[in-house]
Amino acid sequence: MSKPLSRILVIEDEPLPLREIVKGLNAAARSLDNPLGITFSGVATAREALAAIEAGGDIQAVLVDDKLYSLAEGKKNSGRKRLQMSALELVRRITRFRPELDVYILIAQEKEDDVVDALFTEAVDGYFYREERDYRGIYRILNAQIQEKARTPFTDQLKTYVWMAKDQWHTPGHSSGESLRGSPWVNDFYEFMGDHVFDADLSVSVPMLDSLMEPRGVIAQAQQMAAKAFGARRTFFATNGTSTANKVIFQTLLAPGEKLLLDRNCHKSVHHGVVLSGAHPVYLDSALNRKYGLYGPVPKKTLLREIQKHPDAQALILTSCTYDGLRYDLAPIVEAAHARGIKVIVDEAWYGFARFHPEFRPTALEAGADYATQSTHKVLSAFSQASMIHVNDPDFREHLFRENFNMHTSTSPQYSLIASLDIARKQATMEGYKLLSRTIALAKELRQQINSTGVFRVLELADLLPDEVRRDGIRLDITKVTVDVSGCGYTVDDLQKELFDRYNIQIEKSTFNTITLLLTIGTTRSKVSRLYDALMRISREKRAPRRLVRAPEIPALTRLRYLPRDAYYCGGELLPVFDDKERVNRKLAHRVCADGIVPYPPGIPVLVPGQLITPKISEYLANLLRSQKRTELHGIVHEGYQPCVRVLKPKEERGLKRIG
Ligand SMILES: Cc1ncc(COP(=O)(O)O)c(C=O)c1O
Repeated sequence: MSKPLSRILVIEDEPLPLREIVKGLNAAARSLDNPLGITFSGVATAREALAAIEAGGDIQAVLVDDKLYSLAEGKKNSGRKRLQMSALELVRRITRFRPELDVYILIAQEKEDDVVDALFTEAVDGYFYREERDYRGIYRILNAQIQEKARTPFTDQLKTYVWMAKDQWHTPGHSSGESLRGSPWVNDFYEFMGDHVFDADLSVSVPMLDSLMEPRGVIAQAQQMAAKAFGARRTFFATNGTSTANKVIFQTLLAPGEKLLLDRNCHKSVHHGVVLSGAHPVYLDSALNRKYGLYGPVPKKTLLREIQKHPDAQALILTSCTYDGLRYDLAPIVEAAHARGIKVIVDEAWYGFARFHPEFRPTALEAGADYATQSTHKVLSAFSQASMIHVNDPDFREHLFRENFNMHTSTSPQYSLIASLDIARKQATMEGYKLLSRTIALAKELRQQINSTGVFRVLELADLLPDEVRRDGIRLDITKVTVDVSGCGYTVDDLQKELFDRYNIQIEKSTFNTITLLLTIGTTRSKVSRLYDALMRISREKRAPRRLVRAPEIPALTRLRYLPRDAYYCGGELLPVFDDKERVNRKLAHRVCADGIVPYPPGIPVLVPGQLITPKISEYLANLLRSQKRTELHGIVHEGYQPCVRVLKPKEERGLKRIG
């Protein structure tokens, strides 16, 4: 296992003092306890400093002298006026670039008040007097600060508890794996999973490990550290994924009948959240890229129009980035929503790493969003289902949130999930920038390599954007790589199978003519090479392109007649999609659906509860059910072999309040 390396950059534009400070600090680091491998190096100009921070993934802190900095190392006698940057501006640039870095200022005693005043609003972690030359003291403080950031309070406590090896007179039933260990039937599972999986699977009966329902100890500390790292006022760990996180927020912000603006293309948890909260949804149609069957963001024009039109809405939820990596220009949208008193929730399920590299920022919170939900497990080093809810809402009602959070959270949360969130935060803070820089480099390389096959082609932003959103300031997260595969001579299903069976490669998702690959901080160069090799070999087969069958376009959303929750809770009745002669059942049209009907992929609802079914929709469902392609159709009920839709009975409709 490699040891940590922590570089601290000293920025001081006078060579002699710079040399003396760096020497003094390195001597202190050598002579004192140094578990994090701290070393100091110096630069003399602002430009060098910024370049070093950009290139140096191991830099954990900077020590900035409070002077003005020359921007470049100009020749002393060049006669040109040397541009200068104030310490204040330099600190701003550093923290904008890498907010996770600790920033300390070296000041002269006589200037103390001015400097502290000027830097008051900046993210400065502390000050040292230059004249004191207390290098051991400075080192000790910086070392302590970096150690603090690297702490994982929950995980540390969990490990301590496991090593205490207490006798368990409490749940879970496997009791540290004792029930499996040595069993002739299930010991293999124990061996396969490893003993710590069982040792660390504990319960709320252990007070030392705090409570996810009412955190006051190590979970509270871990959440506070996550809030600081992710730039939130408050952070909550969710052990049921972002699926639950979204529902918790809805139930906090929306009373039954209150309006929510939402992208129709959002995740199904959002639609479920509408049912649970009883919200009145106003659906916004997302732009569709017909050429590739990709549903994109909602056009800015639509968003701004609907925000204007529904000032009574309580909240707006958007997905950014989308599954395909499209990121909204969020700031103006958030501003428009806030101007109408509408809270903004951003589903960042696919974007939990964004805070840790300038390439991906601003994050939703940085753009002003009130809430962000992140599937930490999808893109950082957390276990599946481990997500975070970040809150920046100035009107946050914690007691309500807590009630809803607890309503959705198991009273027996999986502790290794909480530990993994603690670890994911630590890793993102300590080496996120470095790992993401590597991921970006690999993504660029992979994109080039795929294009070099001459058969497969990576879709760039211009290819991905539907026309309606071309001027909306949308950007692409390049770690999501969508590839046009229409020239390779395989159908998408066959290509996926070939990649899986022959080359051991499992991709993220597909449309009828594209596949999407997801690079994360866990992507290695070897994986990139293997993928490139596989695509190159397939290209060399020189198969004639196949005719690819485009998935039918999802019909536009029709009128919502009743609140989704009202419709959902009606008993309803089942109507078959086909009649006796296997034609589309004409009785389905003009009835109101009681369930959400969602073809998967792409996971966008064709019908939501309370929506009127039209002949076009019945036709669409029938076509999907008839097609050979294996599209799951969530919400369709099978009575024997008969696929059916649950619809409201006329009597039930008469008892409900119409909304449209
Ligand atoms: C946009 C979006 N939001 C939320 C979720 C749900 O996240 P989780 O799997 O963490 O429950 C997903 C999952 O795919 C998603 O794509």
